[in-house]
Amino acid sequence: FSAFLTDSFGRRHSYLRISLTEKCNLRCQYCMPEEGVKLTPRSQLLTTAEVLTLARLFVHEGVEKIRLTGGEPLIRPDVVDIIAELRKLEGLKTIAVTTNGMNLARLLPGLKEAGLDLINISLDSLVPAKFEFIVRRKGFHKVMEGIDKAIEMGYNPVKVNCVVMRGLNEDEVLDFVALTERKPLEVRFIEYMPFDGNKWNFKKMVSYQEMLDRIRQQWPDLEQLPGGEADTAKTFKVPGFQGQVGFITSMSDHFCGSCNRLRITADGNLKVCLFGNAEVSLRDCLRSGASDQELLEIIGAAVGRKKKQHAGMFSLSQMKNRPMILIGALPTPL
Ligand code: GTP
Ligand code: 5AD
Ligand code: SF4
Repeated sequence: FSAFLTDSFGRRHSYLRISLTEKCNLRCQYCMPEEGVKLTPRSQLLTTAEVLTLARLFVHEGVEKIRLTGGEPLIRPDVVDIIAELRKLEGLKTIAVTTNGMNLARLLPGLKEAGLDLINISLDSLVPAKFEFIVRRKGFHKVMEGIDKAIEMGYNPVKVNCVVMRGLNEDEVLDFVALTERKPLEVRFIEYMPFDGNKWNFKKMVSYQEMLDRIRQQWPDLEQLPGGEADTAKTFKVPGFQGQVGFITSMSDHFCGSCNRLRITADGNLKVCLFGNAEVSLRDCLRSGASDQELLEIIGAAVGRKKKQHAGMFSLSQMKNRPMILIGALPTPL
């Protein structure tokens, strides 16, 4: 495995998250400030050719999984072409997308044909009015249609990401678990994380332990499943249910020790940790004509500076970071 992608704690970074756009057709409260975010001028965003050049380089060094994120990746007009090009990269085993599901039903046939392997869909409420309140837009039924169509087309597991916030959707945890009875979904409850502009506070965060206790009151035989080494989620199943549930415990029990992720923002910065500020512009290197070797040295130096773990939830809530929308929805294990 490439020394450039191995950090000083021996973590091998074989999973790359690439943000394809800063734009989004929703305005989720936990992701974006109400007023939106200032978008980077188009000329400073990675072109499709640049995305593919970087992907090729990382795959050559040992990246086996690429997840496309955003903003909302499915609003990039050439997302299907990008996936088809990624599919040609020898060594890349998995191509995944994290989407809000709004355009999913419509795009699924093309995405599947292009070679998309895995789909994670954000859904924070099963009550249409509450969904609209949280995402500040309409679209509940489109997202549900996207989820059902992904299942129909054979995606398994389809993962549903639910950010749990006290006073907002915490009362729906049991309903989300019940959804896994008849659908082969993996519903993942995510601890609310602090990012710029999202008004995080400790009281709004519902911890893994609290959710687990609540679910066990209803389903005492909930059983834990063995997890993969670098998984963000701890997974469980109610015996007899088709699907399963997971918990992403970035705040109460971080999983930095097994982190295998790097991310590239839509404006071409390499971010070695979801919660880190240190970024290096791969776009500027590419545009100044850097060779593959020079790029790798810059990448290797950034990976080499990656910290052992994130700073802890209270420090994180004070720290300057990008809003989530500008990182790539869904953080990486810090
Ligand atoms: P899988 O590849 O299916 O494991 O997906 P994922 O969980 O890595 O990605 P997804 O985009 O679905 O993100 C789900 C949640 O995981 C998001 O809320 C992120 O906050 C969190 N997440 C993703 N990557 C990281 C990370 O590097 N660090 C931390 N702490 N959280 C991350
Ligand atoms: N805390 C936890 N998860 C978040 N996401 C976006 N913002 C936050 C946050 N503040 C999740 C979204 C999406 C994934 C990419 O990241 O639910 O599914
Ligand atoms: Fe858009 Fe995803 Fe952010 Fe919601 S979480 S505003 S769907 S990028």
